[in-house]
Order: sequence, then C-alpha cells, then structure tokens
Amino acid sequence: MKNLKIDGDRLLESLMEMAEIGATEKGGVRRLALTDLDRQGRDLFIRWCEEAGCTVSVDRLGNVFARRPGRDGALPPVMAGSHLDSQPTGGKFDGAYGVLAGLEVVRTLNDFGIETDAPVEIVAWTNEEGSRFSPPMMGSGAFAGVFGEEELLARPDNVTGELLGDELKRIGYDGAAPVGGREIGAYFEAHIEQGPILENEGRTIGVVTGAQGQRWYEVTVTGQEAHAGPTPMKLRRDALVAASRMIDAVNRIGHDFPPDACATVGFVESSPNSRNTIPGRVFFTVDLRNPDDATLAEMNDRLRADLAGIAEAAGCAVDIVDFWDFPATPFDEGCVSAVRSAAEQGGHSWCDIVSGAGHDAVYIARVAPAAMIFIPCEDGISHNEVENATREDCAAGAEVLLQAILDRAVE
Ligand code: GLV
Ligand code: MN
Ligand code: MN
Repeated sequence: MKNLKIDGDRLLESLMEMAEIGATEKGGVRRLALTDLDRQGRDLFIRWCEEAGCTVSVDRLGNVFARRPGRDGALPPVMAGSHLDSQPTGGKFDGAYGVLAGLEVVRTLNDFGIETDAPVEIVAWTNEEGSRFSPPMMGSGAFAGVFGEEELLARPDNVTGELLGDELKRIGYDGAAPVGGREIGAYFEAHIEQGPILENEGRTIGVVTGAQGQRWYEVTVTGQEAHAGPTPMKLRRDALVAASRMIDAVNRIGHDFPPDACATVGFVESSPNSRNTIPGRVFFTVDLRNPDDATLAEMNDRLRADLAGIAEAAGCAVDIVDFWDFPATPFDEGCVSAVRSAAEQGGHSWCDIVSGAGHDAVYIARVAPAAMIFIPCEDGISHNEVENATREDCAAGAEVLLQAILDRAVE
C-alpha cells in the first residue's frame, strides 16, 4: 500500500464545485459560518460522503463526521478534516482543502478496495474562522472540552447579533450526537500553508510540528461625543484619534519582537459614526501571535502599557478584555513523523514548519494525537479571494494524508 496515487483531478474538481457555493466576483469564497451558504456546503459534503459509502453523523454543535468502517469497530477512528466556513473575503482552499482531501482519501481507499483496521472519519468542524461568530475553532474546541456547548450556542453574530444556536437550528445542523467525549486514534489535518515559506523554499510538503500561540483582545476606547464645529481641538476627547494611535502601536509591537511576532487589528467600529460628531466610542480587536510563549507574554505587557499611555494622553479611557487565547502547541511526535515518512516515501520535497495560523488541529491535539500537512499557496496569500494552490500540490498533500492515515489505521 505504498505510493498509492490519489486522483488529483477528482480532488480539484470537488474543490472547485465546493467553491461555487459562496463564489465571489473576484474568484474567492464568502461562506460564513451557519449561513444558508454554509448549509449548502455541508449538504454537498454529506452527499459526497454518503455516495462514498460513509455513515454521517452531526453533533449538537453542527460538527459533521463521515465514517468509513474499519475491520475492527472497537478501534477509535483515524480522523482527517478541517472546516467548510470561510472568511468574509476568503479563498477556495482555506479549510475546504483539508475536508475534501479527507474525502479524496476515502474515495481512493474505495477505488483500491482497501480495508483499514480502524474506521476512517472525515470531519467538517463548525465555525473555524471565528469571523461571523468569535472565537474561532469553536466546533473542535468544544469537542476537546475547551468551550461549553451552552456558551457557544449563546454567542452573537459580531455584526447582527443573531445567536449561534438559532442560526445552527435555522440551517438544520443542530444535530443529535453529543459533542466530544469519544476517542480519536489520530487526527490529521491537511491545509494550505497560508504563508510564503514553502513557496520560497521550493518545498511541496510542510511537516507541521506545531502552531504558534495566539492572544485575542477586545478593546473599547471611550472619549466624549461632541460637535465637530464648535468644539476646539484642544478640548476634544476623540476616541477615534486615540484608537488610531493605538492601532499604530499594535502594529509596532508586531515589528518590535522579530523575527516571528505578528500583531493585527482587523475589526473596528466607531460610534456614533457620524461625519460631524467627534467619535465618543471605538471598539476594536487585537490579534497577537508568537511561537514562543514568553515573547507572547512580553507582547501582552507592551500592549497594555502602550494602550494605557495613549489613552491617558488623549483624555480617553481604555478597557482591554482578554477575549481568547491558546499557547504555542506542539503536535504529537508520532503523528508528525508519520507525515514526514509519508512525504519522504512519496518522493515529495518537504521541510518542517510551524503553523502561523490557528487550526482545528490545535484543539484536537489536546485530546488526541494530532498533526498537520501543509502545501504551498500562491505568493503565500490566504484570507484573500485570490488564494490559490496548484493541482499538483493539492494532490501531493492528499497523498501524504492518505499514507499518514494508513500508517495509523492499519495495524
Ligand atoms: C485562522 O484562520 C487564524 O486566524 O489563524
Ligand atoms: Mn483554515
Ligand atoms: Mn482561515
């Protein structure tokens, strides 16, 4: 069962068909979690899984599991998957690639009539992106016991306030299966790298050894609303001016902890957002990342000191809420070496890599042996409608996924 070939054309065709659901004019995908488009994506995935002979179950948070039985039903499944939701201006590959690479593995096992000892399950986790509902990685986090079901069902849409639980029910994915509480033999997630390393190094496969840590904050700056005409400049307490200085300070934190730090403000709301009223309140989010937990803690200290100083100088108040975080997460050595051997045996060029992005594998790694497989994406661009990956790289990643799964599912 060495060097089995998956069907690269079939994989790419499925990816492109999935990408039609929520397709944007610029060639990307907008398939926000628990929208009608998310439902259509899930329905298509389930149809394909059933056609491939899998039994599908949906848990109470909408995580979808498609099971191909093994010879020994008592063994815990070897799982492969990722997510089908996208960013607001997302691409065709982020998430969908990992889910459909899992499907391609099952289709290939069927083509060759290969039985595994352990069952193989493909999973599509609910709301990985955390864009419509925050935090991210919700379905996998709940499966791993990081979040409670009730707290997630009560989370509001960041813009409209609709509740996650209502939306889940509305699209018919409030399933019956309990969330988590069952064993996974091993979990493998294939994903585009979403950064430039593999492309720059000329490697096809990233053997992902772990993921960097992240901290998310919610910041509210409060000044005073006043008239844009009669209020002299020196008397103003302009929350948006203070926030803009804070945003610049966040960006500087990213630059001041080289080589790996990242710092981003990606969501801003100014109130009352009226052209001739001095803004009295600004809400924004901060995303800090570093592969080293001690450095991430230093970045956190800098953030608090810088924002407090800027607020004071601007006559504003600032409130910083620790919204969500996870520490740097190493993946399971056995699963990582299964990926490395699969890449080596398949004759693919590879290198070890640390994930800059968060992934469902980060949470699953808390309850099961887990690892990831990266493939290059064009110009390292992701979370963008132009996101792209080649047929050859997609196929190579799925082949490595297949071999890593066989490594774990056949005794
Ligand atoms: C996931 O998309 C992340 O923000 O890392
Ligand atoms: Mn993703
Ligand atoms: Mn993403």
